[in-house]
Amino acid sequence: MRTDRLTVTGMTMNGQARVVLVANQKGGVGKSTTVAAIAEMIAAAGKRGRRVLVVDGDPQANVTVEDLGVEGDGGQSLAQTLQFGAPLTPVRDVRPNLDVIAGGPHLAVAGATAQVMAENGIDMAANLEAQLSLLCDSEGYDLVVIDSGPGDVPLLDTYLSVANYLLIPTRDDQASLGGVARLARRFWHARKQGSSIQLLGVLLFDVNPRATKRNEDVFAQVNEMLAGSGTTPFDITIRSAPAAAVDMRTLHKTAGELVALAHDERRSRIAKLRGKESPTRAMWSSDPSGLAADYQELVRQIIGRLRRFEAPMQERVG
Ligand SMILES: Nc1ncnc2c1ncn2[C@@H]1O[C@H](COP(=O)(O)OP(=O)(O)OP(=O)(O)O)[C@@H](O)[C@H]1O
Ligand SMILES: [Mg+2]
Repeated sequence: MRTDRLTVTGMTMNGQARVVLVANQKGGVGKSTTVAAIAEMIAAAGKRGRRVLVVDGDPQANVTVEDLGVEGDGGQSLAQTLQFGAPLTPVRDVRPNLDVIAGGPHLAVAGATAQVMAENGIDMAANLEAQLSLLCDSEGYDLVVIDSGPGDVPLLDTYLSVANYLLIPTRDDQASLGGVARLARRFWHARKQGSSIQLLGVLLFDVNPRATKRNEDVFAQVNEMLAGSGTTPFDITIRSAPAAAVDMRTLHKTAGELVALAHDERRSRIAKLRGKESPTRAMWSSDPSGLAADYQELVRQIIGRLRRFEAPMQERVG
């Protein structure tokens, strides 16, 4: 797989970064894995990869710690931005062109005190929007991807208010699809409250490609849920890849990064076998390239949708 073939052009909109929120009110549906995979791919793409900022808005901090392998500050910087309008402090160069605002337990405190803060005139969304905008201007980010946790509604509402686009990953079980439906309601609520957020699409995650009848049925259910939103599920689905999933989390590598690692591991195994040494096993997945190709296609489809959403705006701007 060659991520350098991606054309990620036109990633800034009127000089401003796009903010994409990845959310579902159900846990374990691939939010964090997807955030890390697409952010790393877009940052690494092309001769001049785009500047990408991952905002880990989840107290669990999975995308920070597990997926990208960054220790972070436990979410302290982001929590202080939400609560007091303090400047955001990114962890820089987590990957080439990729910075991270770390998540962690401090965010749970911000979420829990949201109501009291609102009663005292503190607007977490306005604080985040202002600081994100300042940071994007000074750092030149082209894209911001926000990861969110499954449970904290005040935090989720804050991110829905700040983001330009919403991407919803889901598994095909009824509980996950229920999470999509609940989130769709919060999405419409945010729009009513004045957010300009658009629904970028729903992504089916951990899919068995052979279960075609089941997959058709799930696509039909999701289409029904999205009726009136002007969007459809992404054509690409993310295949079930449990061995690669273990590797990604233990090695802190994204799907795209795992491909190069698998290649190196194959070469070192062959070299050891030739030298009559017994090969050691660092990875469980023998070929993660199919999974990485799914994410690569997802990135293409995301960019295609962003272009379609923004075409009329760019025409108007001239
Ligand atoms: N392609 C895949 N196939 C199967 N399992 C996967 C795949 N990719 C990742 N996983 C695993 O699925 C689980 C859930 O993924 P992830 O943590 O990204 O979901 P999440 O929606 O962010 O969860 P949470 O709501 O807890 O934040 C993890 O254990 C992850 O390692
Ligand atoms: Mg997560």
